[in-house]
Amino acid sequence: MSETLYPVFDRATRANPQAVYARMREQQPIYPAVGPGSGHTFWFFTRYEDVVTVLKDQRFGKDVKRGLPPALAQRYIFEDENPAFEAINRHLLNLDAPDHTRLRALVHKAFTPRMVQELQPRIQQIAEALLKDMQGRREADLIEDFAFPLPIIVIADMLGVHPEYRDKFREWTKILLFGDAEDKAVTAVMEFVQYVSDLIEEREREHKPDVLGELVRAEEAGQRLDRLELMAMVFLLLVAGHETTVNLIGNGTLLLLQHPDQMALLRARPELIRPAIEEMLRYNGPVETTTWRWAFEDVTVGGVVIPQGDIVLPSLLAANRDPAVFDNPEVFDITRDPNRHIAFGAGVHYCLGAPLARLEGTIAIQTMLERLPRLALNTDVAALEWNESLLLHGMKALPVTTG
Ligand code: HEM
Repeated sequence: MSETLYPVFDRATRANPQAVYARMREQQPIYPAVGPGSGHTFWFFTRYEDVVTVLKDQRFGKDVKRGLPPALAQRYIFEDENPAFEAINRHLLNLDAPDHTRLRALVHKAFTPRMVQELQPRIQQIAEALLKDMQGRREADLIEDFAFPLPIIVIADMLGVHPEYRDKFREWTKILLFGDAEDKAVTAVMEFVQYVSDLIEEREREHKPDVLGELVRAEEAGQRLDRLELMAMVFLLLVAGHETTVNLIGNGTLLLLQHPDQMALLRARPELIRPAIEEMLRYNGPVETTTWRWAFEDVTVGGVVIPQGDIVLPSLLAANRDPAVFDNPEVFDITRDPNRHIAFGAGVHYCLGAPLARLEGTIAIQTMLERLPRLALNTDVAALEWNESLLLHGMKALPVTTG
Protein backbone atom coordinates (compact mmCIF):
# COMPACT_ATOMS: atom_id res chain seq x y z
CA MET A 1 0.00 0.00 0.00
CA SER A 2 1.51 3.32 -0.86
CA GLU A 3 1.96 6.11 1.66
CA THR A 4 -0.03 8.49 -0.55
CA LEU A 5 -3.12 6.35 -0.11
CA TYR A 6 -2.96 6.81 3.67
CA PRO A 7 -0.96 10.02 4.23
CA VAL A 8 -1.05 9.72 8.04
CA PHE A 9 2.10 11.74 8.58
CA ASP A 10 1.25 14.61 6.21
CA ARG A 11 0.82 18.01 7.79
CA ALA A 12 -2.36 18.60 5.81
CA THR A 13 -3.89 15.46 7.37
CA ARG A 14 -3.89 17.02 10.85
CA ALA A 15 -6.84 19.26 9.92
CA ASN A 16 -9.02 16.26 9.13
CA PRO A 17 -7.37 13.00 10.13
CA GLN A 18 -10.74 11.22 10.27
CA ALA A 19 -11.01 11.03 6.47
CA VAL A 20 -7.72 9.11 6.29
CA TYR A 21 -8.52 6.94 9.31
CA ALA A 22 -11.93 5.96 7.91
CA ARG A 23 -10.24 4.53 4.82
CA MET A 24 -7.57 2.77 6.82
CA ARG A 25 -10.12 1.26 9.23
CA GLU A 26 -12.09 -0.13 6.30
CA GLN A 27 -9.25 -1.26 4.05
CA GLN A 28 -6.20 -1.94 6.22
CA PRO A 29 -7.01 -1.50 9.91
CA ILE A 30 -3.52 -2.55 11.03
CA TYR A 31 -1.21 -0.55 8.84
CA PRO A 32 2.60 -0.23 8.92
CA ALA A 33 3.80 3.23 7.93
CA VAL A 34 7.43 4.25 7.65
CA GLY A 35 8.12 7.42 9.62
CA PRO A 36 9.48 10.30 7.58
CA GLY A 37 12.97 11.17 8.76
CA SER A 38 13.42 8.37 11.30
CA GLY A 39 12.73 5.44 8.97
CA HIS A 40 11.15 3.56 11.92
CA THR A 41 8.09 1.40 11.27
CA PHE A 42 4.94 2.66 13.01
CA TRP A 43 1.96 0.28 13.13
CA PHE A 44 -1.28 2.25 13.08
CA PHE A 45 -4.38 0.67 14.65
CA THR A 46 -7.74 2.16 13.72
CA ARG A 47 -10.37 -0.34 14.95
CA TYR A 48 -11.72 0.18 18.47
CA GLU A 49 -11.28 -3.46 19.44
CA ASP A 50 -7.65 -3.62 18.29
CA VAL A 51 -6.77 -0.29 19.93
CA VAL A 52 -8.08 -1.51 23.30
CA THR A 53 -6.31 -4.86 22.85
CA VAL A 54 -2.96 -3.17 22.21
CA LEU A 55 -3.34 -0.73 25.12
CA LYS A 56 -4.14 -3.55 27.55
CA ASP A 57 -1.36 -5.89 26.38
CA GLN A 58 1.79 -5.25 28.39
CA ARG A 59 3.95 -6.96 25.78
CA PHE A 60 3.69 -3.51 24.19
CA GLY A 61 5.86 -1.45 26.54
CA LYS A 62 7.60 1.83 27.07
CA ASP A 63 11.06 1.40 28.52
CA VAL A 64 13.07 0.20 25.52
CA LYS A 65 16.31 -0.12 27.48
CA ARG A 66 14.69 -2.69 29.74
CA GLY A 67 12.24 -4.32 27.36
CA LEU A 68 14.27 -4.84 24.18
CA PRO A 69 17.55 -6.61 23.45
CA PRO A 70 20.35 -3.99 23.17
CA ALA A 71 20.72 -4.45 19.42
CA LEU A 72 17.08 -3.43 18.87
CA ALA A 73 16.93 -0.86 21.66
CA GLN A 74 19.84 1.08 20.29
CA ARG A 75 17.80 2.12 17.24
CA TYR A 76 15.85 4.33 19.63
CA ILE A 77 18.49 5.54 22.06
CA PHE A 78 19.87 8.84 21.01
CA GLU A 79 23.46 9.24 22.08
CA ASP A 80 23.48 12.95 21.49
CA GLU A 81 20.47 13.54 23.74
CA ASN A 82 21.19 16.37 26.12
CA PRO A 83 21.67 15.19 29.75
CA ALA A 84 19.44 18.09 30.87
CA PHE A 85 16.46 16.01 29.76
CA GLU A 86 17.36 13.17 32.14
CA ALA A 87 15.83 15.18 34.95
CA ILE A 88 12.38 14.98 33.39
CA ASN A 89 12.39 11.63 31.57
CA ARG A 90 11.61 9.12 34.31
CA HIS A 91 7.87 9.62 34.35
CA LEU A 92 4.82 7.36 34.13
CA LEU A 93 4.47 7.53 30.37
CA ASN A 94 8.05 6.30 29.90
CA LEU A 95 7.92 3.44 32.40
CA ASP A 96 6.55 -0.11 32.73
CA ALA A 97 5.80 -2.29 35.76
CA PRO A 98 7.09 -2.41 38.45
CA ASP A 99 8.34 1.22 38.41
CA HIS A 100 5.16 2.43 36.74
CA THR A 101 2.96 0.63 39.29
CA ARG A 102 4.88 2.08 42.24
CA LEU A 103 4.82 5.67 40.96
CA ARG A 104 1.20 5.50 39.89
CA ALA A 105 0.12 4.32 43.34
CA LEU A 106 1.98 7.23 44.92
CA VAL A 107 0.56 9.90 42.67
CA HIS A 108 -2.93 8.44 43.12
CA LYS A 109 -2.66 9.23 46.82
CA ALA A 110 -1.75 12.81 45.99
CA PHE A 111 -4.45 13.18 43.35
CA THR A 112 -7.60 12.14 45.17
CA PRO A 113 -11.15 12.71 43.85
CA ARG A 114 -11.77 14.94 46.87
CA MET A 115 -8.82 17.13 45.96
CA VAL A 116 -10.14 17.44 42.41
CA GLN A 117 -13.67 18.26 43.58
CA GLU A 118 -12.32 20.94 45.90
CA LEU A 119 -10.88 22.73 42.88
CA GLN A 120 -14.36 23.48 41.52
CA PRO A 121 -14.81 27.03 42.94
CA ARG A 122 -11.30 28.02 41.92
CA ILE A 123 -11.75 26.75 38.34
CA GLN A 124 -15.07 28.61 38.16
CA GLN A 125 -13.37 31.80 39.33
CA ILE A 126 -10.59 31.46 36.73
CA ALA A 127 -13.11 30.83 33.94
CA GLU A 128 -15.22 33.85 34.95
CA ALA A 129 -12.18 36.16 35.04
CA LEU A 130 -10.89 35.06 31.62
CA LEU A 131 -14.34 35.28 30.01
CA LYS A 132 -14.94 38.73 31.44
CA ASP A 133 -11.97 39.98 29.44
CA MET A 134 -13.41 38.36 26.31
CA GLN A 135 -16.87 39.91 26.50
CA GLY A 136 -18.05 42.29 23.78
CA ARG A 137 -14.98 41.86 21.60
CA ARG A 138 -15.02 42.10 17.82
CA GLU A 139 -11.90 39.99 17.70
CA ALA A 140 -10.78 37.39 20.17
CA ASP A 141 -8.88 34.11 20.07
CA LEU A 142 -10.63 31.44 22.09
CA ILE A 143 -7.40 29.47 22.43
CA GLU A 144 -5.05 32.27 23.49
CA ASP A 145 -7.62 34.12 25.62
CA PHE A 146 -9.42 31.23 27.29
CA ALA A 147 -8.54 27.59 26.50
CA PHE A 148 -4.76 27.97 26.94
CA PRO A 149 -4.57 29.96 30.20
CA LEU A 150 -7.32 28.11 32.08
CA PRO A 151 -5.64 24.70 32.60
CA ILE A 152 -2.18 26.18 33.13
CA ILE A 153 -3.46 28.35 35.98
CA VAL A 154 -5.25 25.31 37.48
CA ILE A 155 -2.13 23.10 37.37
CA ALA A 156 0.13 25.88 38.57
CA ASP A 157 -2.22 26.35 41.54
CA MET A 158 -2.27 22.63 42.27
CA LEU A 159 1.49 22.54 42.35
CA GLY A 160 1.72 25.69 44.42
CA VAL A 161 3.45 27.78 41.73
CA HIS A 162 3.71 31.38 42.88
CA PRO A 163 1.42 33.69 40.86
CA GLU A 164 4.38 35.80 39.69
CA TYR A 165 5.90 32.69 38.09
CA ARG A 166 2.76 31.74 36.15
CA ASP A 167 3.87 33.51 32.98
CA LYS A 168 7.29 31.88 33.22
CA PHE A 169 5.58 28.52 33.65
CA ARG A 170 3.48 29.22 30.61
CA GLU A 171 6.55 30.15 28.59
CA TRP A 172 8.42 26.96 29.62
CA THR A 173 5.48 24.72 28.70
CA LYS A 174 5.09 26.43 25.35
CA ILE A 175 8.75 25.88 24.54
CA LEU A 176 8.77 22.28 25.77
CA LEU A 177 5.47 21.32 24.14
CA PHE A 178 6.01 22.87 20.76
CA GLY A 179 9.56 21.61 20.31
CA ASP A 180 11.32 24.93 19.97
CA ALA A 181 14.99 25.14 18.94
CA GLU A 182 17.07 22.73 21.05
CA ASP A 183 19.08 25.41 22.88
CA LYS A 184 15.88 27.17 23.95
CA ALA A 185 14.42 23.85 25.13
CA VAL A 186 17.55 23.04 27.16
CA THR A 187 17.44 26.45 28.84
CA ALA A 188 13.72 26.00 29.55
CA VAL A 189 14.32 22.56 31.13
CA MET A 190 17.15 23.90 33.27
CA GLU A 191 15.10 26.87 34.49
CA PHE A 192 12.12 24.60 35.10
CA VAL A 193 14.20 22.09 37.10
CA GLN A 194 15.72 24.88 39.19
CA TYR A 195 12.35 26.41 39.95
CA VAL A 196 10.69 23.08 40.82
CA SER A 197 13.65 22.23 43.10
CA ASP A 198 12.99 25.48 44.95
CA LEU A 199 9.30 24.63 45.24
CA ILE A 200 10.16 21.19 46.61
CA GLU A 201 12.48 22.68 49.20
CA GLU A 202 9.73 25.08 50.20
CA ARG A 203 7.38 22.11 50.73
CA GLU A 204 10.04 20.35 52.78
CA ARG A 205 10.22 23.33 55.13
CA GLU A 206 6.45 23.77 55.35
CA HIS A 207 3.89 21.11 54.51
CA LYS A 208 0.85 22.04 52.47
CA PRO A 209 -1.99 19.72 51.54
CA ASP A 210 -1.58 20.22 47.77
CA VAL A 211 -0.44 17.71 45.16
CA LEU A 212 3.22 18.69 45.41
CA GLY A 213 3.07 18.63 49.21
CA GLU A 214 1.69 15.09 49.13
CA LEU A 215 4.37 13.93 46.70
CA VAL A 216 7.13 15.46 48.81
CA ARG A 217 5.66 13.72 51.85
CA ALA A 218 5.80 10.42 49.92
CA GLU A 219 9.47 11.03 49.15
CA GLU A 220 10.23 11.82 52.77
CA ALA A 221 8.32 8.81 54.07
CA GLY A 222 10.80 6.69 52.11
CA GLN A 223 8.13 5.36 49.79
CA ARG A 224 10.73 4.98 47.13
CA LEU A 225 10.12 8.12 45.12
CA ASP A 226 13.47 9.70 44.41
CA ARG A 227 14.17 13.31 43.53
CA LEU A 228 14.45 12.70 39.79
CA GLU A 229 11.17 10.81 39.79
CA LEU A 230 9.49 13.58 41.72
CA MET A 231 10.78 16.17 39.26
CA ALA A 232 9.66 14.09 36.27
CA MET A 233 6.23 13.64 37.84
CA VAL A 234 5.75 17.38 38.17
CA PHE A 235 6.85 17.81 34.57
CA LEU A 236 4.40 15.12 33.39
CA LEU A 237 1.46 16.60 35.31
CA LEU A 238 2.19 19.92 33.72
CA VAL A 239 2.59 18.63 30.18
CA ALA A 240 -0.04 15.86 30.15
CA GLY A 241 -2.60 18.05 31.83
CA HIS A 242 -2.17 21.15 29.77
CA GLU A 243 -2.52 21.03 26.02
CA THR A 244 -4.93 18.09 26.23
CA THR A 245 -7.36 20.26 28.18
CA VAL A 246 -6.72 23.22 25.86
CA ASN A 247 -7.80 20.98 22.99
CA LEU A 248 -10.92 19.74 24.77
CA ILE A 249 -12.09 23.32 25.24
CA GLY A 250 -10.95 24.43 21.76
CA ASN A 251 -12.21 21.45 19.74
CA GLY A 252 -15.40 21.30 21.82
CA THR A 253 -16.18 24.97 21.19
CA LEU A 254 -15.54 24.57 17.47
CA LEU A 255 -17.94 21.60 17.37
CA LEU A 256 -20.69 23.67 18.99
CA LEU A 257 -20.08 26.52 16.55
CA GLN A 258 -20.26 24.10 13.63
CA HIS A 259 -23.46 22.49 14.96
CA PRO A 260 -25.76 25.39 15.92
CA ASP A 261 -28.65 22.98 16.64
CA GLN A 262 -26.53 21.21 19.28
CA MET A 263 -25.34 24.53 20.73
CA ALA A 264 -28.98 25.73 20.99
CA LEU A 265 -29.97 22.44 22.63
CA LEU A 266 -27.18 22.76 25.20
CA ARG A 267 -28.13 26.37 25.98
CA ALA A 268 -31.75 25.32 26.42
CA ARG A 269 -30.94 22.25 28.51
CA PRO A 270 -27.73 22.96 30.49
CA GLU A 271 -28.07 19.64 32.31
CA LEU A 272 -26.86 18.02 29.07
CA ILE A 273 -23.35 19.36 29.74
CA ARG A 274 -22.07 15.98 30.95
CA PRO A 275 -23.04 13.91 27.90
CA ALA A 276 -22.03 16.90 25.72
CA ILE A 277 -18.46 16.84 27.11
CA GLU A 278 -18.28 13.07 26.54
CA GLU A 279 -19.43 13.54 22.94
CA MET A 280 -16.81 16.26 22.37
CA LEU A 281 -14.17 13.85 23.71
CA ARG A 282 -15.42 11.14 21.36
CA TYR A 283 -16.10 13.09 18.21
CA ASN A 284 -12.96 15.21 17.99
CA GLY A 285 -10.87 14.35 21.03
CA PRO A 286 -7.69 16.12 22.19
CA VAL A 287 -5.36 13.13 21.67
CA GLU A 288 -4.99 11.71 18.16
CA THR A 289 -2.75 8.69 18.69
CA THR A 290 -1.44 7.56 22.07
CA THR A 291 2.24 7.92 22.95
CA TRP A 292 4.60 5.33 21.44
CA ARG A 293 4.77 1.75 22.63
CA TRP A 294 7.22 -0.88 21.44
CA ALA A 295 6.58 -4.58 20.75
CA PHE A 296 8.88 -6.23 23.33
CA GLU A 297 8.42 -9.56 21.49
CA ASP A 298 6.66 -10.63 18.30
CA VAL A 299 2.97 -10.10 19.06
CA THR A 300 -0.03 -11.14 16.95
CA VAL A 301 -2.99 -8.72 16.92
CA GLY A 302 -6.01 -9.19 14.64
CA GLY A 303 -4.10 -11.87 12.72
CA VAL A 304 -1.12 -9.57 12.01
CA VAL A 305 2.34 -10.18 13.50
CA ILE A 306 3.91 -7.04 14.93
CA PRO A 307 7.67 -7.76 14.95
CA GLN A 308 9.70 -7.27 18.11
CA GLY A 309 11.20 -3.77 18.25
CA ASP A 310 8.59 -2.05 16.05
CA ILE A 311 6.52 0.89 17.31
CA VAL A 312 2.72 0.73 17.66
CA LEU A 313 0.47 3.79 17.38
CA PRO A 314 -3.14 3.08 18.38
CA SER A 315 -5.34 5.90 17.04
CA LEU A 316 -7.86 7.05 19.64
CA LEU A 317 -9.54 9.38 17.16
CA ALA A 318 -10.09 6.49 14.73
CA ALA A 319 -11.33 4.08 17.43
CA ASN A 320 -13.87 6.65 18.61
CA ARG A 321 -15.55 6.73 15.19
CA ASP A 322 -15.64 2.96 14.70
CA PRO A 323 -19.12 1.98 13.41
CA ALA A 324 -18.69 -1.44 15.03
CA VAL A 325 -19.07 0.28 18.42
CA PHE A 326 -20.92 3.58 17.86
CA ASP A 327 -24.28 4.06 16.09
CA ASN A 328 -24.01 6.79 13.45
CA PRO A 329 -20.44 7.60 14.50
CA GLU A 330 -20.23 10.57 12.11
CA VAL A 331 -23.11 12.35 13.85
CA PHE A 332 -22.22 14.81 16.64
CA ASP A 333 -24.98 14.14 19.17
CA ILE A 334 -24.69 15.67 22.65
CA THR A 335 -27.37 13.30 23.98
CA ARG A 336 -25.48 10.15 22.90
CA ASP A 337 -25.95 7.35 25.40
CA PRO A 338 -24.14 5.03 25.84
CA ASN A 339 -20.83 6.61 24.86
CA ARG A 340 -17.93 4.24 25.48
CA HIS A 341 -15.26 6.48 23.93
CA ILE A 342 -11.60 5.93 24.78
CA ALA A 343 -10.35 9.52 24.53
CA PHE A 344 -8.54 9.00 27.87
CA GLY A 345 -6.82 5.80 26.68
CA ALA A 346 -7.10 2.35 28.28
CA GLY A 347 -5.05 -0.10 30.31
CA VAL A 348 -2.38 0.77 32.87
CA HIS A 349 -1.60 4.20 31.39
CA TYR A 350 -5.28 5.29 31.42
CA CYS A 351 -5.34 9.05 32.01
CA LEU A 352 -4.67 9.88 35.62
CA GLY A 353 -6.20 13.33 35.21
CA ALA A 354 -9.52 12.28 33.62
CA PRO A 355 -11.71 13.51 36.53
CA LEU A 356 -9.90 16.86 36.57
CA ALA A 357 -10.09 17.20 32.78
CA ARG A 358 -13.83 16.49 32.85
CA LEU A 359 -14.35 19.06 35.60
CA GLU A 360 -12.33 21.72 33.77
CA GLY A 361 -14.09 21.01 30.45
CA THR A 362 -17.53 21.11 32.05
CA ILE A 363 -16.95 24.40 33.87
CA ALA A 364 -15.21 26.00 30.86
CA ILE A 365 -17.89 25.18 28.27
CA GLN A 366 -20.85 25.83 30.58
CA THR A 367 -19.53 29.20 31.76
CA MET A 368 -18.57 30.18 28.22
CA LEU A 369 -22.13 29.56 26.97
CA GLU A 370 -23.53 31.64 29.84
CA ARG A 371 -21.10 34.56 29.58
CA LEU A 372 -20.71 34.76 25.79
CA PRO A 373 -24.28 34.61 24.46
CA ARG A 374 -23.25 35.99 21.05
CA LEU A 375 -20.19 33.80 20.51
CA ALA A 376 -19.57 33.27 16.78
CA LEU A 377 -16.81 32.01 14.51
CA ASN A 378 -14.70 34.76 12.94
CA THR A 379 -13.05 32.75 10.16
CA ASP A 380 -13.69 30.02 7.62
CA VAL A 381 -13.32 26.59 9.16
CA ALA A 382 -11.04 25.69 6.22
CA ALA A 383 -8.67 28.51 7.21
CA LEU A 384 -8.12 27.20 10.75
CA GLU A 385 -4.55 26.12 11.45
CA TRP A 386 -4.03 22.84 13.30
CA ASN A 387 -0.97 21.87 15.31
CA GLU A 388 1.49 19.60 13.51
CA SER A 389 1.62 17.02 16.31
CA LEU A 390 0.38 13.49 15.62
CA LEU A 391 -0.18 13.06 19.35
CA LEU A 392 -2.15 16.15 20.30
CA HIS A 393 -5.07 17.18 18.11
CA GLY A 394 -5.92 20.86 18.35
CA MET A 395 -5.88 24.27 16.72
CA LYS A 396 -3.23 26.95 16.94
CA ALA A 397 -5.90 29.63 17.17
CA LEU A 398 -9.71 29.86 17.09
CA PRO A 399 -10.74 33.36 15.99
CA VAL A 400 -14.16 34.34 17.35
CA THR A 401 -16.33 37.39 17.92
CA THR A 402 -18.21 37.80 21.17
CA GLY A 403 -19.93 41.17 20.76
C1 HEM B 1 -9.25 16.35 28.10
C2 HEM B 1 -8.06 16.28 28.66
C3 HEM B 1 -7.19 15.05 28.67
C4 HEM B 1 -7.15 14.00 27.79
C5 HEM B 1 -8.00 13.77 26.54
C6 HEM B 1 -6.10 13.11 28.25
C7 HEM B 1 -5.76 11.93 27.63
C8 HEM B 1 -4.80 11.05 28.08
C9 HEM B 1 -4.43 9.83 27.42
C10 HEM B 1 -5.03 9.31 26.11
C11 HEM B 1 -3.47 9.23 28.16
C12 HEM B 1 -2.78 7.90 27.87
C13 HEM B 1 -1.65 8.08 26.88
C14 HEM B 1 -1.05 6.77 26.42
O1 HEM B 1 -1.54 5.69 26.79
O2 HEM B 1 -0.06 6.82 25.66
C15 HEM B 1 -3.21 10.09 29.31
C16 HEM B 1 -2.29 9.82 30.31
C17 HEM B 1 -2.04 10.67 31.35
N1 HEM B 1 -2.71 11.85 31.65
FE1 HEM B 1 -4.21 12.68 30.61
N2 HEM B 1 -5.56 13.63 29.40
C18 HEM B 1 -6.20 14.80 29.70
C19 HEM B 1 -5.96 15.62 30.79
C20 HEM B 1 -5.11 15.34 31.82
C21 HEM B 1 -4.95 16.14 33.02
C22 HEM B 1 -5.74 17.40 33.34
C23 HEM B 1 -3.94 15.56 33.74
C24 HEM B 1 -3.34 15.95 35.08
C25 HEM B 1 -3.14 17.13 35.51
C26 HEM B 1 -3.50 14.39 33.01
C27 HEM B 1 -2.50 13.54 33.43
C28 HEM B 1 -2.14 12.37 32.78
C29 HEM B 1 -1.07 11.50 33.26
C30 HEM B 1 -0.19 11.71 34.49
C31 HEM B 1 -1.00 10.42 32.35
C32 HEM B 1 -0.04 9.24 32.40
C33 HEM B 1 -0.67 8.11 33.14
C34 HEM B 1 0.21 6.86 33.15
O3 HEM B 1 1.13 6.72 32.34
O4 HEM B 1 -0.04 6.02 34.04
N3 HEM B 1 -4.23 14.28 31.86
N4 HEM B 1 -4.03 11.19 29.24
